[in-house]
Amino acid sequence: MGVVGAGWVGLVTAACFAELGHRVVVRDIVPERVEALAAGEVPIHEPGLADLFEQNRERLEFTLDLGDVVETAGLVFVCVGTPPLPSGDADLSAVWQVMDELAGLEDRLVLVMKSTVPVGTGERVRARLDARGLAHVGYVSNPEFLAEGTAVGNFIAPDRVVVGAMAEEDGDRVARLYDPLGAPLVKTDVASAEMIKLASNAALVTRISFINEIANVCELVGADVDEVARGVGLDHRVGPHFLRAGIGYGGSCFPKDASALKQIAANSGYHFQLLTAVIEVNELQKRRVIQKLQAHLGQLRGRTVALLGLAFKPHTNDMRGAPSLVLAPRLMTEGAIVRAWDPVALEEARALLVGVEFSDSVLEAVEDADAAVVVTEWPELHDLASSDVRQAMRTPLIVDGRNMLDPATVRAAGFAYESVGRPSGLLSPSVRSLTTAS
Ligand SMILES: NC(=O)c1ccc[n+]([C@@H]2O[C@H](COP(=O)([O-])OP(=O)(O)OC[C@H]3O[C@@H](n4cnc5c(N)ncnc54)[C@H](O)[C@@H]3O)[C@@H](O)[C@H]2O)c1
Repeated sequence: MGVVGAGWVGLVTAACFAELGHRVVVRDIVPERVEALAAGEVPIHEPGLADLFEQNRERLEFTLDLGDVVETAGLVFVCVGTPPLPSGDADLSAVWQVMDELAGLEDRLVLVMKSTVPVGTGERVRARLDARGLAHVGYVSNPEFLAEGTAVGNFIAPDRVVVGAMAEEDGDRVARLYDPLGAPLVKTDVASAEMIKLASNAALVTRISFINEIANVCELVGADVDEVARGVGLDHRVGPHFLRAGIGYGGSCFPKDASALKQIAANSGYHFQLLTAVIEVNELQKRRVIQKLQAHLGQLRGRTVALLGLAFKPHTNDMRGAPSLVLAPRLMTEGAIVRAWDPVALEEARALLVGVEFSDSVLEAVEDADAAVVVTEWPELHDLASSDVRQAMRTPLIVDGRNMLDPATVRAAGFAYESVGRPSGLLSPSVRSLTTAS
């Protein structure tokens, strides 16, 4: 089989299908990426992926030439990026580039779309292929649901496999590849398959913004959102997943897919009010960290703030849509000096966060700092509230954007501590008004 696009989805797809015994030809357009892969280097940080590549090297081939893929492969998985345009729509230029490069192809093959694309893309691809004399090229939508950081496990043990086909036999061919995984199969039409991917991500971001708003109310009324989420999540109609309050979602998929679905609706004449609110809540949530710092430190001008964790989530070096990309410039706009640490994403972050001082260790980042902000819940931060950190900091203040530390332990270690939706060290406004009244 062929894989076009050697990013997170393409590399995981290639390695996992190779592990299932298939020979896979992988094509990318970035020469350094292809050279690195051919030399046995995996250019992304994804747990388990490097081992899988090493174990299946003889079944994996890398090329810059799409001709090498279509020459040998009957099924070609399209895994190119579909980043957001300024309008919020998905940029499909990489998808169209692949279609255009197929011109003149004589053999029959089936294109399998793994990239996340707007609903209706399948129909547009079909029309484009037909217009280029490629009516014999089949098309199947097979959206990918992997999550970075756990991508290999997600691919090998998926919750479901979705296959949307124009021709029954093409869909069956793709579905059979997943038989060894034993996952539930949703066989449907192409438009519904495209919508399942976008609606799934919309459901997840809605839950995140929901619990974050509950957290914000908890802060005002003195409740603990972690307790609330546990109690709510035990209701089987709700379930426990994606009910962790924090500083908001990020990443390469959630922000762009939410905005793409909102735009698809708007372009079709529907104002998706709920999703619009979900997106806005998420933007505001990142910025609440600034208010928490100001509540303790007053003006941030001249203060040093250490951002701990820069990648959008732990166990990845992906900086796309990371909350740190909003927090650092917001802090610098307030006049703060920003230090930053991440165990794997420093190199990626350097290019994106101009004006930030980068540190190779947590201790270096918090030296003489007025506050440490947990932005990404890296396991290395579990013992942040240590005496070394306390002594290194000018003001021992921790703002935990991921609720990963235990408030009582952190405060007992001599830190002022703020988290999300859990009782604050400072009096909440409603409690303060009660105290004043009495
Ligand atoms: N990253 C995720 O967690 C995830 C999960 C599910 C779905 N998706 C979707 O999968 C798609 C790919 O995401 P990603 O994170 O792997 O992207 P990525 O940016 O990491 O990788 C895309 C790759 O495609 C290559 N490329 C661009 N044009 C090409 C062409 N014409 N031929 C060959 N290669 C080309 C790029 O050089 C890059 O290496 C997106 O649509 C995304 O929304 C991503």
